[in-house]
Amino acid sequence: MQRERLGTDAAYIIRNQNCVKENCCLNSERIDLDTMKEILDLDDLPLTGNVVIEILGMLTDKTCKAAELEKVIERDPGLSAQVLKIANSAFYGLRGNVNSIARAMVLIGMEEVRNVALTVCLMNQFRSSSMARSFDSFSFWHHSIMTGLLAREIADQINLVRGSEAYVMGLLHDLGILGMASKLAVHYDRISSLESRRNIVRYEIEKSLTIPHTLVGYWIADRWSLPEVLKETILWHHEPLEGEKFVAESALIHVADLITTQADHMESSEQMSDLLDTEIFSRVGMDSEILADLFSLKVNMEKEVRGLSAVLGSA
Ligand SMILES: [Fe+2]
Ligand SMILES: [Fe+2]
Repeated sequence: MQRERLGTDAAYIIRNQNCVKENCCLNSERIDLDTMKEILDLDDLPLTGNVVIEILGMLTDKTCKAAELEKVIERDPGLSAQVLKIANSAFYGLRGNVNSIARAMVLIGMEEVRNVALTVCLMNQFRSSSMARSFDSFSFWHHSIMTGLLAREIADQINLVRGSEAYVMGLLHDLGILGMASKLAVHYDRISSLESRRNIVRYEIEKSLTIPHTLVGYWIADRWSLPEVLKETILWHHEPLEGEKFVAESALIHVADLITTQADHMESSEQMSDLLDTEIFSRVGMDSEILADLFSLKVNMEKEVRGLSAVLGSA
């Protein structure tokens, strides 16, 4: 970890731990500083294979051509087969018509193929048997994909980022949860058990006991040299107004994340808007009409996204 980054990380940890100190009863169980340092020094935070790095590199490369993406995907026969299986799934409604990566790009678009390949690669990366026992892969990917799709929908309606960029921000926002479930499995299971026993949200428990998934995700993103906007949205998606850069983008992901987790428990979008901080809402540039659209979109997409997550999980 670079020296200047450590300063930022330490400030982040102290600021957030102080926030929860007064109102959380879990401090006696807090993980000690040595463990935290061990985590900070961990050399083998999940690193990706070349394919993920290459696909992520294409996110910002405006000159990236379809042929280059095709070459990268086809270099890995397993990945090609997985991408084709998804392109032929009910989610895209193409029913077995996609027999090559080139054809997939024509039918569903290059950015969509890139996003499918990225999702598959990440799932493969974190499919190992060493994941925490309490990690629920289906729920995780369902949540990440739904957040990505809602983020894309918001982006399409406001003029902030391109829809495909917003999708990737949503897909990756909880990258730190993957990192914790794979590299800090014992802590992850401990947090899961507290979450269900005490009915406190995971993020608050993480902040009081150990480092939050937002920071772990930031470290991984930093190691992968992801673009700044992705690192910031990963770091601040739970508290977008605390960030200094890309606040509107972090707010966008915050809203998409909240709708993903809360819409099922709400009867209407009005109830949903009571949950949203008005400043966050205005930072994104949304209005109640867009929120109502998203609310019904989430309900309507539920079945499709469940199907897609299941196909991805078995691809
Ligand atoms: Fe999160
Ligand atoms: Fe999330």
